[in-house]
Amino acid sequence: MLEKERAVREKLAKYGQEHLLLKYDSMSEKEKETLLEQILEIDFNQILELYENTKKKIQLGEDKIEPIEYIDKNKLSESEKERYTKLGEEIIKSGKLGFITMAGGQGTRLGHNGPKGTFKLIGEKTLFELICDTLKEGKEKYGIDIPWYIMTSKENNNDTVAFFEKQNYFGYPKDCVVFFKQGELPMISSSGKILLDKEGYVKEASDGHGGIFEAIVKNNLLEDMKKRGLEWLFIGGVDNCLVKMCDPLFVGLTVDKKYMVAGKSLVKANPAERVGVFCKRNGRPSVIEYTEISKEMAEARDANGELLYGEAHVLMNMFNIKALEALKEDKLPYHSAFKKAEYYDENGNWVVPTEPNAYKFESFIFDAFSYLDNMLIMRVKREEEFAPVKNAEGSDSPETARKLYNDFIATRK
Ligand code: UD1
Repeated sequence: MLEKERAVREKLAKYGQEHLLLKYDSMSEKEKETLLEQILEIDFNQILELYENTKKKIQLGEDKIEPIEYIDKNKLSESEKERYTKLGEEIIKSGKLGFITMAGGQGTRLGHNGPKGTFKLIGEKTLFELICDTLKEGKEKYGIDIPWYIMTSKENNNDTVAFFEKQNYFGYPKDCVVFFKQGELPMISSSGKILLDKEGYVKEASDGHGGIFEAIVKNNLLEDMKKRGLEWLFIGGVDNCLVKMCDPLFVGLTVDKKYMVAGKSLVKANPAERVGVFCKRNGRPSVIEYTEISKEMAEARDANGELLYGEAHVLMNMFNIKALEALKEDKLPYHSAFKKAEYYDENGNWVVPTEPNAYKFESFIFDAFSYLDNMLIMRVKREEEFAPVKNAEGSDSPETARKLYNDFIATRK
């Protein structure tokens, strides 16, 4: 222990982070050990480099950005639709399709206390249950139990699992549901000091949904997926109550056209909508996030008056297992977000900020697209597949999502 403590003190002195032991002396032996281990695991070079990068402006300037080609589902002929659907159905029926729901985010904007998936949207039905309903439909239609992987975070894993238990997995077979945790990174103040949390440990936050590739490997999920015979994984977010995970036409089209990765897009509602957009970056598929696109690019239009970068990326992507396996080797870039985060200052005072004060670093799943030569983009109808719950009020709120959901259900009756 003394040896470990010495190593930690040396490490902290080297990086000017000695304050991380501020609460050390008042901790129990077990807590001390946990903190030391936590600090030893931190890659300070990485965090400090990410911190330095926050001072630089994001430059798309060097990259060659172009619009991307896509296939409009609604412009396919009836016979094409039928053919792709049939092919997709065969793949689903033979048990080759699995689902992943990314539910590691905290949903702070929504102001919900607990994992975002436990938010009640339609009557007593939560986001998790609404997603599960679509899986149950698939089960009924194709007669097979489709594996459902749920990515949680350290912060919300226990609550998520307890919720599923309490709800009896919404009647979905329990052995088909697999929870796995994504990784985390320390948060750092605007003056370059890593934050301490209420218990005196290093304050960490989820490392973004790009952490999914690493998390899949760390949790040995590739082996699990192969054992279950899966070849395709549809990966969606937890906050879209219309997410259509079991979509034979999408599967069939992707397989027929011989792509290894596919994404659904829909037409961006207006230049300011808070959605990322698909594009080609240096000849490869890519997404420019709404926080990083310039006004000029967001507003540019083609000869027909359509937004030049108007194919919204809505976190509905599908990967062949071989692509997942290959992507695990690639390091994704981190994006920084400036957030409000409570912490102990260097004098041991607990600070509750009223303005953003700290950086959080996240990688994004769609940055993996840049490692691919190509991918299929299939444009779908917004009213059929996209009803996001992001904010407590206004746009993309429970109220707007509820209306979109109910309107869609009415069209199916
Ligand atoms: C996201 C997309 C944006 C897309 C929009 C569509 C990102 C960074 N951007 O924006 O391109 O157009 O949705 O609605 O995703 N999540 C995790 N772990 C994390 C962070 C997030 O699992 O560490 C999950 C969340 O639980 C949620 C999804 O990812 O299901 C979206 O995350 P969020 O950070 O809310 O993204 P948006 O800003 O809404």
